[in-house]
Amino acid sequence: MPEDHPEPTEDARHAAANALLGTTGVTRAKVDSAASRRASRRWWDADADAYHETHADFLGVDSPAGEFVWCPEGLHEGDWHLLGDIEDKRVLEIGCGSAPCSRWLAAHGAHPFGLDISRAMLDRGVAAMNAGGPRVPLVQAGAEELPFADESFDLACSAFGGVPFVADSEQVMREVRRVLKPGGRWVFSVNHPMRWIFPDDPGPDGLRAAIPYFDRTPYVELDADGEPTYVEHHRTIGDRVREIVAAGLVLKDIIEPDWPEWLDREWGQWSPLRGEIFPGTAIFVTEKPN
Ligand SMILES: C[S@@+](CC[C@H](N)C(=O)[O-])C[C@H]1O[C@@H](n2cnc3c(N)ncnc32)[C@H](O)[C@@H]1O
Repeated sequence: MPEDHPEPTEDARHAAANALLGTTGVTRAKVDSAASRRASRRWWDADADAYHETHADFLGVDSPAGEFVWCPEGLHEGDWHLLGDIEDKRVLEIGCGSAPCSRWLAAHGAHPFGLDISRAMLDRGVAAMNAGGPRVPLVQAGAEELPFADESFDLACSAFGGVPFVADSEQVMREVRRVLKPGGRWVFSVNHPMRWIFPDDPGPDGLRAAIPYFDRTPYVELDADGEPTYVEHHRTIGDRVREIVAAGLVLKDIIEPDWPEWLDREWGQWSPLRGEIFPGTAIFVTEKPN
């Protein structure tokens, strides 16, 4: 980037959305599903432009055939094949944002549908599709109530979309199980639960444990009226496994990506410094039994 157009930092990105939303404070508080949905919709609508200014190149948003990057550690579906065979498969992507992953799936023979709660994030995907490449149907809805018939998809996926932001992630697991065909695979990436205990700081200050791992009280940002403008929900590794099993899915793998040698770029609290010491992402690979 030329010096007069410095790459926007994650802090600047958050400050821009917070200014738009009138965020005045941060707290830890219980937030139910409806308030979490409202906050996520507001936040991602306000943040869509800045998110793309900061991350679109890494995610391949403007590449004509999209890209499928699972996490800030840069794991690509084309190398890892976590979804297995995608040829001719109907795939639901949850929290698709501007849908680079869905567009990559379409370019590689699948029939994806992208779902997201934020109109502004979806609009960014429409703009990318208008510039060329495969077109993917996009649906605006929340992850806890999927507007699809039972057993309508062969596969489902989510790259940091929805799951960390919902109050009832077990309900998401149940919904995905419902819409998947028997034998269908559901793969989703989220913040690694152990990151919860550290401040969101990519530098040395982000190496000091400060928050109890066992405290599931959500992280909440609020506006002057006390309405949440951003909510993140924590689950321990055990919670995630229990929710998957309770929903009737089978857990096949949990991938904790190493920080790759080629990657010297930070993404918010993800950095080479921290990534060399402990994981930032967990990718759950699950299946609906036959
Ligand atoms: C970190 S972005 C990831 C977007 C995309 N997967 C990517 O890799 O760029 C999180 C996305 O989840 C969406 N989201 C948040 N809460 C959601 C919910 N309850 N249901 C569906 N999508 C949600 C946001 O609107 C946003 O587009």
